[in-house]
Amino acid sequence: MSSETPEPAKLAIPWRTRLVLTMISAATDLSRRSNGTINRRLLNLLDFKSSPSPNKPIHSIISSDITVDPTRNLWFRLYTPENSGVNGSDTPSLPVVVFFHGGGFSFLSAASSSYDVVCRRFARIFPAIVLSVNYRLTPEHRFPCQYDDGFEVLRFLDNDRANGLLPPNADLSKCFLVGDSAGANLAHHVAVRACRAGFQNVKVIGLVSIQPYFGGQERTESELQLVGYPFVTVERTDWCWRVFLPDGSDRDHYAVNVSGPNAENISDLDFPDTIVIVGGFDPLQDWQRRYYEWLKRSGKEATLIEYPKMFHAFYIFPELPESSRLFSEIKEFVTKRLSKP
Ligand SMILES: *[C@@H]1O[C@H](CO)[C@@H](O)[C@H](O)[C@H]1NC(C)=O
Ligand SMILES: *[C@@H]1O[C@H](CO)[C@@H](O)[C@H](O)[C@H]1NC(C)=O
Ligand SMILES: *[C@@H]1O[C@H](CO)[C@@H](O)[C@H](O)[C@H]1NC(C)=O
Ligand SMILES: *[C@@H]1O[C@H](CO)[C@@H](O)[C@H](O)[C@H]1NC(C)=O
Repeated sequence: MSSETPEPAKLAIPWRTRLVLTMISAATDLSRRSNGTINRRLLNLLDFKSSPSPNKPIHSIISSDITVDPTRNLWFRLYTPENSGVNGSDTPSLPVVVFFHGGGFSFLSAASSSYDVVCRRFARIFPAIVLSVNYRLTPEHRFPCQYDDGFEVLRFLDNDRANGLLPPNADLSKCFLVGDSAGANLAHHVAVRACRAGFQNVKVIGLVSIQPYFGGQERTESELQLVGYPFVTVERTDWCWRVFLPDGSDRDHYAVNVSGPNAENISDLDFPDTIVIVGGFDPLQDWQRRYYEWLKRSGKEATLIEYPKMFHAFYIFPELPESSRLFSEIKEFVTKRLSKP
């Protein structure tokens, strides 16, 4: 791997993107305290949010916030292509995408502007009914709250025929779990639970794992070599794992070292077809490739897509051509999966 490690000069991105990257990193670093707490007041000022738009479509997508469990402030933002289900059965059925945002389990929300844009793009491009889950964050709520919340949303959907909150053309037998970074870690663990759950209506048929946040005690080549690139540093990821994991656990916990010897054995599970996306300037890439290889070893259908010139979370920047390419590539995966018998 080390011979392929790119030179620093090769990360060619527009200066405006670079400026935003610097601001986001500064905001998270400033709000992150060494005693393992987060200055939420400061962070809220710096995390730009968007409101749902239930009456006025934005690029032909309407959105609304739906509460799942008020006792733990669990809700999701629902994105629906305009006209879908207006007249019920005369609209074609659409797959359901359950999306989990990134942010090290500590930062951001389903209302964060950048994820609002991302989810609207998914809803429009696939097209699909998209639910963006607002799971609880650590350090206030540690592992496994995030996995519990993600799974609870699937259970809620499984009962939705009673709730009737989704548009009538939402096809729960065609669910995709999609996440980036910590959201992709979450999507993986929710997929494992979903396989074991025996749902009546929900069937997860695909997993889109965008630059998943995995790790371990060991330092990989890419973690050691790729220093000074956007978002991910060993210091930041160590901090996030420390405030996520139960006291006394190290990074070889199954939540982190997902493909290590402590991993859950998924061989016998009807695990969904998976696409794993990796960037050449992402220090987490070695863990991501191991994840892909482990899925294959476990007998699962998995595809690896590489973006050699891209950094962690590049796809949230619509000005990058690679971002559009990624959405097309995911659409292709979704379309192919939908046509598979
Ligand atoms: C952590 O530090 C902040 C700011 O210095 C302080 O307000 C907070 O009480 C501390 N929390 C813990 C658990 O030590
Ligand atoms: C829905 O049905 C109503 C009455 O049946 C009709 O007037 C309206 O144009 C339909 N809307 C769409 C989007 O098909
Ligand atoms: C973590 O995972 C790697 C393989 O991905 C493995 O070499 C290492 O031993 C693992 N550690 C533990 C304790 O699971
Ligand atoms: C996982 O389970 C399968 C079937 O039960 C078994 O054949 C396989 O050896 C197990 N793999 C590991 C790594 O334990």
